[in-house]
Amino acid sequence: MDLNLNVSGELTALQVMQDSPVIPVIVLTDVAQAVLMARALLAGGIRMLEVTLRTPQALACIEAIARDVPEAVVGAGTVRNAQDAQASAMAGARFIVSPGYTQALAQACRDVRLPLLPGVATASEIMMAQADSLSELKFFPAMQTGGPAMLKAWNGPFGDVRFCPTGGVTAANAMDFLSLPNVVCVGGSWLAPADALARGNWAQITALAFQASRLNVKAD
Ligand code: 3PG
Repeated sequence: MDLNLNVSGELTALQVMQDSPVIPVIVLTDVAQAVLMARALLAGGIRMLEVTLRTPQALACIEAIARDVPEAVVGAGTVRNAQDAQASAMAGARFIVSPGYTQALAQACRDVRLPLLPGVATASEIMMAQADSLSELKFFPAMQTGGPAMLKAWNGPFGDVRFCPTGGVTAANAMDFLSLPNVVCVGGSWLAPADALARGNWAQITALAFQASRLNVKAD
């Protein structure tokens, strides 16, 4: 964790990616649990938190974390259109993650002054994102779309692009991605398992975050 990063200012996508080796992908249905979840992850050393817009309570959860856990940096995931981006910004999200790429979404994120980490799965999508000056991208769904081998292949033509592979990434295979030169971090839901959330097992979540925060051993 880069403790020198001023998390109160505007962030870049690269800063979001560089803060820890794993960005937890979180599905929340309860505002009270959201705050406890954020604190548990923070206690394990992870503060960049992606809360997915997949539940009716997601925006309220983002708002609660932004308000009650100021040491965390909460972003919105599963953002698919301009309206989602605007609502996320209003709720206090500090970054936006999307499963795919559209120019409309990129423009909306610029309008609300939030960094966008857009999902790509093909060379053409990378080229479209780069045409809009975006070179920090989420590779999604990473395992299902070719895994580390795909990223190795892309490092030739797209050596200037840095990726956050997400989708099918686990504690067991995260290093296969993190050891690649074009990977800055990975995203994954394994840090916030639904059963631990349901049982309020915050110690388990802190332990998972701690392990994840120590994953990256790439030499500079
Ligand atoms: C998702 O779409 O939920 C994210 O990509 C996380 O995927 P995962 O559950 O495979 O980590």
